[in-house]
Amino acid sequence: MNYQLAANHRVAFVLIAVLVLYIFISFQEKLQSAMAAKPIIKVTAICGSLRKASYHRGLLRSAIELSESIDGISIEYLDISHLPMLNTDLEVDGKYPAVIEAFRQKILHSDCFLFASPEYNYSITPLLKNAIDWASRPPNVWANKAAAVVSVGGSYGGGVAQYHLRQVGVFLDLHFINKPEFSLNAFKPPAKFDDDGNLIDPEAKERLKLVLVSLKDFTLRLR
Ligand SMILES: Cc1cc2nc3c(=O)[nH]c(=O)nc-3n(C[C@H](O)[C@H](O)[C@H](O)COP(=O)(O)O)c2cc1C
Repeated sequence: MNYQLAANHRVAFVLIAVLVLYIFISFQEKLQSAMAAKPIIKVTAICGSLRKASYHRGLLRSAIELSESIDGISIEYLDISHLPMLNTDLEVDGKYPAVIEAFRQKILHSDCFLFASPEYNYSITPLLKNAIDWASRPPNVWANKAAAVVSVGGSYGGGVAQYHLRQVGVFLDLHFINKPEFSLNAFKPPAKFDDDGNLIDPEAKERLKLVLVSLKDFTLRLR
């Protein structure tokens, strides 16, 4: 009788152990597939204007807000206003100044970039070019990453400068999404921005969101 009871206990123990193992494995699998389905794309947002009420920084603030309604994407604003003007004399023994190295590390650890690029005389601004050039120094930390560019301006909405930036991207192996393109005429009524440079145009916000979705999808494809 006692022998029978002990045997029953052993069987029950084995069954419980198998059940616990099964629950553990299926939990692990679910966790893994949830993580695989939702990678977080780290977007670094860079503004080419120094102006306090910059429309371009306003676009980036709006993009950060909009990104909260898109799964699997996070945008971090990266200030480039403090970077010294590029001078290769500042590179000593193959090392960069601390602020430059910190900037380069941020670029290196980003998945992709959102440039808000003002148009100055049909080209990109010195501020933006300077930052791009610093991160292009060896090793080029832009390489093989995805990017999108948005702009605001006069008649072409900054669209001409966008094509200069895309051309720079060719040499850097920085891959821009083709579509949707985003440019905005800020000087034609109705107002698209308030006095602080905040984007207030609902249609532009919708278009900006589509840029973010496209950037996310393209970044995943490049992986
Ligand atoms: C030196 C300079 C050149 C400019 N050239 C152009 C231009 O070629 N095309 C254009 O659409 N706007 C041009 N603009 C106007 C800018 O697009 C406008 O000032 C824009 O608001 C700048 O962006 P921000 O508001 O983010 O500073 C120029 C502005 C400056 C200061």
